[in-house]
Formats: sequence, C-alpha cells, structure tokens
Amino acid sequence: MGRILITGTGLFTPPDSVSNAELVVSLGQANEAWNGKHRAEIERGELEARDLPSEKFIERASGIGHRYVMDKQGVLDPTRLRPHLRSRTEDELSIQAEIGLAAANEALAQAGRKGEDVDAVIVGCSNLQRAYPAVAIEIQAAIGASGFAYDMNVACSSATFSIQNAVDALRSGSAKCVLVLNPEITSGHNNFALREFHFIFGDACTALLLERDDSEADTVGDRTEGSPESWEILDTRLVTTFSNNIRNDAGYLNPCEEPERESFELLFRQNGRTVFKEVCPLVSKHIRGHLADRSIEVSDVKRFWLHQANLGMNKLIMRKILGRDALPNEAPVILDEYANTSSAGSVIAFHNHRDGIAAGDYGVLCSFGAGYSVGSVILRKFTD
Ligand code: COA
Repeated sequence: MGRILITGTGLFTPPDSVSNAELVVSLGQANEAWNGKHRAEIERGELEARDLPSEKFIERASGIGHRYVMDKQGVLDPTRLRPHLRSRTEDELSIQAEIGLAAANEALAQAGRKGEDVDAVIVGCSNLQRAYPAVAIEIQAAIGASGFAYDMNVACSSATFSIQNAVDALRSGSAKCVLVLNPEITSGHNNFALREFHFIFGDACTALLLERDDSEADTVGDRTEGSPESWEILDTRLVTTFSNNIRNDAGYLNPCEEPERESFELLFRQNGRTVFKEVCPLVSKHIRGHLADRSIEVSDVKRFWLHQANLGMNKLIMRKILGRDALPNEAPVILDEYANTSSAGSVIAFHNHRDGIAAGDYGVLCSFGAGYSVGSVILRKFTD
C-alpha cells in the first residue's frame, strides 16, 4: 500500500494584530459605558455591574499576548466589539475562500504542485460562513482542482478530523492529492463584550497538502522527487465524548426558536475551568495510548504540535505525557502571538516549528476541543 505524505503546508495570517493592552482598553470603555447605562438596575440589584478586564489576568490565565483579526477597528470599537466584514456579491470570492486560497497557494508552492494536481479539497473549521455551496467547492473552482470538495466542522478538532478524512480518501483511492484547509474567522463567533471570553481567540487559516506516494522507495529518506520536505502520516486516531462545556448554538433554526434567545447566547461560550480539568487527562491518555499501540516510545517523539487553547493546558498535557516538563522546542507554543485560532492552532505550530527534525524522526500533531473531540496524527519525517 502507498504511503500518505504531507508535502506542503501554508498559513494565512491577517495583517491586523491586537495586543491584550488594546483589548483591555476597549472592553474597559465598553463596560464603563454599559455600567453607566444600567446604573439604576445595578443599584436596585437587578443587574450585576460588569467588572473591568485585566491584562495581567489574561497573560497569567492563558499565555496569550496578541491575536490577529480580520478587522481590528471593529473589534476594538467599544460601541461595536465585533469585526466589520464587508458583504460580498455572489460573483466575488467569499472571505473564507479568500483566506483559504492564500494558505492553499503557499502549501501548493511548497509541495511543487499546481491547483490542477489536486483532486479533493476539504475545508474543516469551527464556523462556516454559510450552509452551501461549500466553501471548499468555491476553493476547488478557484484553484482549478478536479474531483470533489466539501466542508466539515468538528470545532477545534476540525484539522485532525479532516486529515483523517483526507487519509481515508487517499488510502481508498478516491483521491490522489488532497488539500485540507482550516479557515478560522473566530472574531466573528467571539463575544468581545464579556471579559471571560474577549481575549481567547484569533483569526488565521492553515493549509496542508496530502498526497499518496506509490513509489518503490521504502527506506525513510529515499524519496527524491516532488516536495523537498515531506512527512509520512503513520497513523491517525479520533475520539469524541459528549459535553456541553463548550458550545456555540448559532444555526439556521435560531430565528424560529420560541422563545427567541439573546444573540450573545448563540456565540461561543464555555466552562473554562471544567474544560481544563476534563480535557487535559483525555488528551494525554489519548496520545499515550495511540503511541503505545504503534509501539512508539514517548521518548522517541521529537515534537508535539498540540492544539493551542491555553498555555497551562498544554504544559499539563505534556507533563502527563512525558512525566516531566516539556522543553520549549518539544511542544512549541504559538499562543502568545496568535491566541486560540481553533482548528488552525496545531497546524500553525507545525507550519512554524518543524526545524531541527531529521528524516526518520517522529512527531505528533494533536487537536482537541468542543464535542469533546480529540484527534492525533503520528508523523514521521520522510524527506528533508
Ligand atoms: N480580566 C480579569 N478578570 C477576569 C477576566 C479578564 N479578562 N476573565 C475572567 N476574569 C475573572 C473571572 O470573572 C473570575 O472571577 P471570580 O473568581 O471573581 O469569579 C476569575 O477571573 C477567574 O475566572 P476563570 O474563568 O475561572 O479563570 P481561569 O483561571 O479558569 O481561566 C480560561 C480562564 C478560559 C483562560 C481557562 O479556564 C481556559 O483556558 N480553560 C481551557 C478551556 C479552553 O481553552 N477551551 C477551548 C477549547 S479546548
């Protein structure tokens, strides 16, 4: 059976960067205005005053320093607290397709492939801008790919779940070259008016090109054609277990619901502490079990590219896996710069931090999040 290789990666980063200090100033102004507007209700005890956010808290609780967003002006405007996104005509590329295309072009160039070499496109992300036609089909048309394309959503785990689908298509022969994209415009689902949530997310899009390689070369490091650098996918493993602790209830039935719900109830919300407590053991056990079943020692894994939601979570997961604290280059963190970019996070870490690994070395890419859902991908560097 042919091997499955990742031959290219791409990353779109929005031009606007927002610091914690900027966010705190804007939400502080918004909360003061809100408290002023509701002074009478607050004094009567009918409403609770909104507390001021703190930069120190954000840094300490999450490890997040900045985030990139599609529109900084709208996010920071205390009277708006959400991005301005221009409505586009049906003749224009949609915004998710546009950022998907930017990341796709980088991955294709890295792999030495053209759009017409692709015969499947999978868009996996937490929030899709419309029900149909699929953003993936729009991107398929834009790059001139053949075959099929579809969108899917497994929240923060969408990257590993779409990698699994790509691997299945490549193994079965229904595709030969699959583009996996994770366009996350989380600034649209985030509630910037609440201090528990306003700092968590950032926007980005990642791309992976996966190909089936049926060449005879069977020694790691032998392949000389195509991408100068490639990674063999040795195995994938997914698991889900139901939880209400991370929810986003936005959907097409919202306007029909009786009684109607407040719009903030339909945005992202979570019980952060419980998620922290429940998800960390789930992930560490999942990764350890996956490696053990493949007879790979944890100590033989050179790098872990984990989902990027919270620095404390990643540190704890790595401690549970390794039995000690991870060194910075064993489990790279991109939270400081990008914040939580949902499904894109682990792939950003992989895209930006895979230097210093030799052909034959193992790595694990892992995502986790709402559902709950966990996905792990065991990789081996194939060619330098
Ligand atoms: N500034 C100042 N204070 C804040 C604040 C802010 N921006 N946000 C929350 N607080 C306050 C809270 O109101 C709370 O006050 P209280 O103790 O008086 O009630 C206090 O700080 C602690 O809040 P809590 O939400 O318990 O903080 P935390 O230490 O659990 O950190 C998260 C919050 C979200 C960073 C953390 O729980 C987390 O990251 N969990 C993982 C969940 C996750 O990332 N999920 C995504 C998918 S995996």
